[in-house]
Amino acid sequence: MRVLLTGGAGYIGSHTALVLLEHGHEVLVLDDFSNSSIEAIRRVEQLASASIAVVRADLADLEAARTALEGERFDAVIHLAGLKAVGESTEQPTRYYRTNLVSTLNLLEMMRERAVTSLVFSSSATVYGTPQTRTLAEDHPVGQGITNPYGFTKAMNEQIIRDAQAAWPEFGAVLLRYFNPVGAHPSGRIGEDPSGIPNNLMPFISQVAVGRREKLMVFGSDYPTVDGTGVRDYIHVMDLAEGHVAALEHIAAGVAAYNLGTGRGSSVLEVVRAFEGATGIAVPYEIVAARAGDLAEAVADPRLANNELGWQASRSLDEACRDSWAWQSANPSGFDA
Ligand code: UD1
Repeated sequence: MRVLLTGGAGYIGSHTALVLLEHGHEVLVLDDFSNSSIEAIRRVEQLASASIAVVRADLADLEAARTALEGERFDAVIHLAGLKAVGESTEQPTRYYRTNLVSTLNLLEMMRERAVTSLVFSSSATVYGTPQTRTLAEDHPVGQGITNPYGFTKAMNEQIIRDAQAAWPEFGAVLLRYFNPVGAHPSGRIGEDPSGIPNNLMPFISQVAVGRREKLMVFGSDYPTVDGTGVRDYIHVMDLAEGHVAALEHIAAGVAAYNLGTGRGSSVLEVVRAFEGATGIAVPYEIVAARAGDLAEAVADPRLANNELGWQASRSLDEACRDSWAWQSANPSGFDA
């Protein structure tokens, strides 16, 4: 298949591009490079010994995207393009809604024009809002208790895709609800390269370890969890990337939602210890106040994806720490060093 990968130069996109190439697919990346680097694409091409077609355009600009894709053929779409910083989304809500919703609307219109019927969408466990059950399964209610515009854009995009499908019966979409992606390709050639101060735990820990930051701030220590710190389901980005390819290869007409997670929870302090154990580097930390909007615990029930997609997360948190460090230590300033 020739797959249009929107946001293909980003963290998840670059790893997904690599796995697509390894599975014999062709990749056409559409990215505006507003928060990613062409160097990521070049490195994926080197790792796969294959080439990737790239078009530079803002998917939220319909005419620009149409023009950029003129003369390009694709059989399916994996849609990852979007803004993803939770804190920023509360400061710039209209920008988040415009970018994340209009991009999806434009993409769906172009798919219809071209009669491309297969879509994999990058959703998030954030659509479950406040967990009502110990682990989160796909039939957990969506939308209640979401705390920020970024999270709402994910839930709204899911609804937009469902409505588009209802009006176009041949169309097939898979909504992938990611838990917490971490790690990097084991070569250390590609990885997560956040701009500015990292919001997420693993890139922050890596930057402390490499000496770019003094210490980790642990947000909250009195959650009702194993050690009082927040518990999440950390999934290796290579497992996540493989989940996209499994989803793509299983698309049928209709809409299906799947969790991509491991089913195992780890606390912040457990992640710190895993990182220290995997790398031999101490990660100094300080416990500070909880972050507004944070959950105590969010862990996937991954059985539906295991059973229906024939996919399972197979890599450990220790491997993710080791691979994050392989990337961070070889690229202390990211791609644009
Ligand atoms: C966050 C978003 C989520 C989004 C995901 C994308 C919030 C509330 N949720 O998830 O919507 O889909 O990122 O990657 O922002 N932590 C620290 N110190 C830090 C950073 C994080 O202690 O410097 C803790 C957090 O409190 C949390 C855990 O580490 O317990 C994981 O945090 P993070 O990586 O930001 O992910 P989420 O909050 O789960």
